[in-house]
Amino acid sequence: MSDLDLEAGRTEGNALRVSGLMHYGLQVPNLGQGRDFYADFGLTVDERPDQLVVRCDGRDQDQTLLVEGRDKRLHHVAFAAPPGSLAELQRHLESLDIVLQDAPPGGLGDGLWFRDPDGNAVNVREQDLASPRQPEQVKQNLPGDYQRVDEAHWLTANTPPRPRRLGHMLIFSSDVDRSTAFYQRTLGLRLSDRIKGTAVFMNSGPGDHHVFGFIQSSHPGLHHSSWEVNNLDELMVGAQVMADKGHRIGWGLGRHTLGSNLFHYMRDPWGSWIEYFADIDQISENWQAKDWEVPPAVWCPMMPGEFLENHEPKPE
Ligand SMILES: [Fe+2]
Repeated sequence: MSDLDLEAGRTEGNALRVSGLMHYGLQVPNLGQGRDFYADFGLTVDERPDQLVVRCDGRDQDQTLLVEGRDKRLHHVAFAAPPGSLAELQRHLESLDIVLQDAPPGGLGDGLWFRDPDGNAVNVREQDLASPRQPEQVKQNLPGDYQRVDEAHWLTANTPPRPRRLGHMLIFSSDVDRSTAFYQRTLGLRLSDRIKGTAVFMNSGPGDHHVFGFIQSSHPGLHHSSWEVNNLDELMVGAQVMADKGHRIGWGLGRHTLGSNLFHYMRDPWGSWIEYFADIDQISENWQAKDWEVPPAVWCPMMPGEFLENHEPKPE
């Protein structure tokens, strides 16, 4: 993709655009294992017929749907469309010769369903994104701004993690440029930044630097989902709690380059990753996408050798 295409994607995205990432579906071989893992991470898990639904405490929105199947694999990704916009979006998709499909079985819901070039099921629902719960206000003692006097911070710094929202997810793509162009054209996602041929970060308008993106691979799959926590304490207490519960393979603490967020990842039971993040860059309509040749983090421990491995089976 040329620099000209970067600009075209930005302009095109302004015309018709989903409002954000809503949830993702994951097929796993054992729902009980899935329930335990997401609960350990600090999320609430409830049962529905034939699926488990994962939510953030205080947010009235599904964030992950777990369905049972032979292998672990990404089941679908779901985006929110502003109320009243779905008919126009459907006409737009049909004008691009996108074939709309029935919802998969299992009560996974309404909206529009179609496939991306890698065969991933994509769902768009006409629904506002639910507000996350109000963040806890934590006083900080920063140079020149000492907010906490006669208060011992450590006494309250050890609270278990309670992620506020699903922030973003990155999926493996067999052709990151093709995937980028597809999601620009169909859903109006815009390029935020890119490590050419390797990793792509996309936004859905003002807000987080990225809500979706791609990592180059031989075939599709989930790379990671990422969940916002309040601050560095919660992020690292989360990593510690996960390790104590047996989820010891991880990567962090670090500060990413593209997006600038603090991060700590844990490997999930199926070989993909889940991330606590805090302090991600916020962007406006004026953000300019760029190509970069940079490592994934400003500072971090060494990346685990398996971090970029795709453990999902190749599509048949
Ligand atoms: Fe991330």
